[in-house]
Amino acid sequence: MSRQRAKLVVGNWKMHGRIDENAALLTEVAAGASALQKDVRVGVCVPCPYLAQSQALLSGSVVKWGVQDVSAHAGGAYTGEVAAEMAVDFGVTYAIVGHSERRAYHRESPELVGAKTQRAIEAGLVPIVCVGETLEERESGATEQVIGTQLDAVLMLLTEEQAAGIVVAYEPVWAIGTGKTAQPEQAQAVHAFLRRKLQEKGATVANALLLYGGSVKPDNARELFAQGDIDGGLIGGASLKSKDFLAICQAAQTALQ
Ligand code: 13P
Repeated sequence: MSRQRAKLVVGNWKMHGRIDENAALLTEVAAGASALQKDVRVGVCVPCPYLAQSQALLSGSVVKWGVQDVSAHAGGAYTGEVAAEMAVDFGVTYAIVGHSERRAYHRESPELVGAKTQRAIEAGLVPIVCVGETLEERESGATEQVIGTQLDAVLMLLTEEQAAGIVVAYEPVWAIGTGKTAQPEQAQAVHAFLRRKLQEKGATVANALLLYGGSVKPDNARELFAQGDIDGGLIGGASLKSKDFLAICQAAQTALQ
């Protein structure tokens, strides 16, 4: 079965942004993205306090907005957490779940990430499920075992139909914010593994978009996006500069041609 020909580029602002600088960034990204072909989808995942601003400035543009995490709970006495339904109130499309920074600094287990993914889907969001190995795990030959476990914990909770709607982002921990990108062939090998795992869940699930994340920049994006199983990118640092982010979106378009 042939896969959909589409690319997706999503910015993960992490804990960056202030209201004034966001206004310029969001406006510039919306303007630049309007020139892209429609099979290049663009999103930005912003800190929750800026969801209203994102909604105000991006509504009516081709750029969708999202959150960087959601609670595993629908609501209740969970101080500091944000429910997926609350994000929906602000027109959100995407929810990053299981980012390695949350797995590492907030001790999020594969099971919790699975529960968060399920909540996001139930609320009507598109989860971007992050998986990735540390350098130590890679060097000990455990990459497939680690990311396989991370992905299985999510897939086991979902129906085939739900699983077909998720986005998976492969983000090797050693490549995040370090300037060390995985070699395109190295990333492709992991993406092919992830694609096979999705295929096991069902033929339609194998069509899910698979993003690469970790030091994606304008000068390495095209080669990464040209790989057969890399459907786009999850962009950290370079998503904070409109020129760089739009150049990466443009690279996704070039890779489709
Ligand atoms: P960098 O692009 O800054 O390496 O961050 C990648 C990332 O973690 C995106 O979620």
